[in-house]
Amino acid sequence: MSIKKSTGEEIPIEMHKTRMVQKIWLTPVEERLQAIEEAGYNTFLLKTKDIFLDMLTDSGVNAMSDNQFAALMKVDDAYAGSMTFYEFAKSVEDILGYKYVMNVHQGRAAEHLLAKVFCKDGCVVPTNYHFTTTRAHIELAGSLVLEIYYDEALKTESTNPFKGNMDPQKLRNVLSKYGKDKISFVRMEATTNLIGGQPFSMKNFREIRQICDENGLLLVLDGSLIGENAYLIKQREKGYENKTVAEIIKEMCSIPDIYYMSARKNTSVRGGCIATNNKELFDKIRPWLPVYEGFFTYGGMSMREVGAMSVGLREMVDPSVAGCSVEQIKYFVKRLKETEIPVVTPPGGLACHLDAMRFLPHIPQQQYPAGALAAALYLASGIRSMERGTISVDRDKEGKEIMADMELTRIALPRRVYSVSHIEYAVDRINWLYKHQNLVKGLKFVFEPPVLRFFDGRLKALDNWGKDLADAFKKEIGDK
Ligand code: F0G
Repeated sequence: MSIKKSTGEEIPIEMHKTRMVQKIWLTPVEERLQAIEEAGYNTFLLKTKDIFLDMLTDSGVNAMSDNQFAALMKVDDAYAGSMTFYEFAKSVEDILGYKYVMNVHQGRAAEHLLAKVFCKDGCVVPTNYHFTTTRAHIELAGSLVLEIYYDEALKTESTNPFKGNMDPQKLRNVLSKYGKDKISFVRMEATTNLIGGQPFSMKNFREIRQICDENGLLLVLDGSLIGENAYLIKQREKGYENKTVAEIIKEMCSIPDIYYMSARKNTSVRGGCIATNNKELFDKIRPWLPVYEGFFTYGGMSMREVGAMSVGLREMVDPSVAGCSVEQIKYFVKRLKETEIPVVTPPGGLACHLDAMRFLPHIPQQQYPAGALAAALYLASGIRSMERGTISVDRDKEGKEIMADMELTRIALPRRVYSVSHIEYAVDRINWLYKHQNLVKGLKFVFEPPVLRFFDGRLKALDNWGKDLADAFKKEIGDK
């Protein structure tokens, strides 16, 4: 939520009080240099002891509520038939409107099952934009992902409120090119993660549904960030101003055939689910659940987390939860725009995204500017962000590099974890870094895994730039 100050300025306001805290510390820059060297300039490989603000992700690191902690304790921990699962199924029906649900251990497990059941060799999956794990599972199952966003989606600086929309004309073109039998399913991701957490509109979702209906296509919604998408629909789409976030989420969920989510984001627990109102589709997926995840009533999750997820689902429709990171991101982006830092606009869900190609225009894409910027930001601040650019795209079958559509450095805002003063600190260090952009150079892989290389890959700083940046920081700012 946000609140208007007497000066008229709007600032994010926390609609909760903190009654349990976790200590954090800021290690000196020499130690940060050593840590990033040891991590192969890959922020995933840093250890939290060396991190001040962990803004790598909003996944599995949100603050749970008191009621969620209570639910962890009050659980029916049975292998099979747990009543906690049936309470969860009731929450799914009440909040999302689905009669059939199964848990999975996290979002990518849902993607694995959906790809296994619906993707075939030589088929395609049109999507408003892929997520890394989604693409990996679809491709491993033999289908190809087709990105059919509007061209505007890739413009980092924009005022388009719905850059996550799918282009209906492009979907029709896919239909004429491949034929409906070659389309495994159409996938919509609520706030497109890799292109800056941008939402789609209800109007667009309905248009896509219409095309799917006309052609008998299956429509799948990745609702991992549905709360943020709904909150942004309320703020930006005509006709939704007076609807509640709960009503918007229910309406969004009434559109697709199949819904899945990583529960690690919106519901602040570690798990996921697949839900539908179509029993036939459900029965196609269900036999694979015990093979890959676990028995039907736990699906690879701890029962305690299923209980907390049940509460989390009911809480995620509260605007103070759905809008918590959205408002912080809006403020973060506004503060960076004041000094013309290149940042993705309009602000979306999930994170503040720096446009690394404009932040570090001297670094060619082959030298991974977004990865270099994430490492540089860590050196200058102790903040851990994430590369969302070419390092996050694996090579093609011939081993050739595929250049990412965008080079973004993602600074995620986990829900209810960081405060405005943390954001102010980040803004200051980003400004310092921007003034010293020429000290930052590219990266080169020294170890490159074949799949999802961004997780475990190791790189080195060209011309040892990490040391130059650390020296400049020490001289000008030091460790105070
Ligand atoms: N779909 C979306 C839109 C996601 O953002 C994620 C995860 C997944 C699926 C996969 O879910 O991690 O539970 O297996 N996003 C995390 C992130 C990892 O940092 O953005 P998972």
